[in-house]
Amino acid sequence: MKKLFSEIPRICGGDIELRRLCSGDADALRELTKSEEVYRYLPTFLFEKKYDDAKDAIARMYDECLKESLILGIFSDGEFCGLAEFYGYRAPLLKISIGYRLLPRFWGKGIATRALGLMTGRLFCDTNVKIITASVIPENKASAAVLEKNGFRLAAHSVPENWGHALPTKADKWIRTASGYRRGYSFHPDKNT
Ligand SMILES: CC(C)(COP(=O)(O)OP(=O)(O)OC[C@H]1O[C@@H](n2cnc3c(N)ncnc32)[C@H](O)[C@@H]1OP(=O)(O)O)[C@@H](O)C(=O)NCCC(=O)NCCS
Repeated sequence: MKKLFSEIPRICGGDIELRRLCSGDADALRELTKSEEVYRYLPTFLFEKKYDDAKDAIARMYDECLKESLILGIFSDGEFCGLAEFYGYRAPLLKISIGYRLLPRFWGKGIATRALGLMTGRLFCDTNVKIITASVIPENKASAAVLEKNGFRLAAHSVPENWGHALPTKADKWIRTASGYRRGYSFHPDKNT
C-alpha cells in the first residue's frame, strides 16, 4: 500500500472526512467491531477485529496492516461513523479493491455513498489506479446501491471466495474503471479481489 500512497491520505469533501484512526477513536471503533449487524455480510478476517482491544488494533493499523490494506476512519461532521478500506493493490494491473462499513445508526443518510465518492475520486485523480473492484454478497442490497450510485457495474455474479467461513462465500464482483480506460479485467474464483 505504501507504493500507492506516499503518505497516509486525509480525504475531505462536504461533511465527510476520511483519515487515519488515532487512539482517541478506540471507543468508537470498539462499538463498530462489536456490532453483529455490521459484520453480517463481511469476511471474518478484517483487521480491526484481529485484536480484542480496539486500542491495539489502532496501534498496529498503520504498520502491521498497511502492507496489505489501508483502513481509514469515516467521519461525518467530525463524528466517527465507520471504516473505509483500500486493499488488494495490484500494481501491474493498476487495480485495487475497496470496502466500507458503518455503524448502523448512520445508515441511510448517504454517508457510504459520499465516502465511496471520495475514495474513487482520490484513486483516479491522485494515483495510477485505473480499475477499482468491490466484493458484495448478493443479499447486501444497500452496498450494491452504494456502488451503483458511484458508477460501479456488476461484472460477475456469485463468484466463490474465501471469506473465512467453512465453505466458500459467493460474492458479486463490482467494477469501476477510470474514464477512457479501455483494458478489461476478468475475475477469477477465490482471488478475493
Ligand atoms: C452498506 C452500507 C455501508 C451502506 O451505508 P449507507 O450510508 O447506509 O448507504 P447510503 O445511505 O449511502 O446508500 C444506501 C442505499 O441503499 C439503499 N438500500 C438500503 N437498504 C436496501 C435494501 N434492502 N434494498 C435495496 N436498497 C436498499 C438505500 O435506499 C440507499 O439508496 P438511495 O440513496 O438511492 O435511497 C451500510 O449499510 C453498512 O455499513 N452495512 C454493514 C457493512 C457492509 O455490509 N458493508 C459493505 C460490505 S460490501
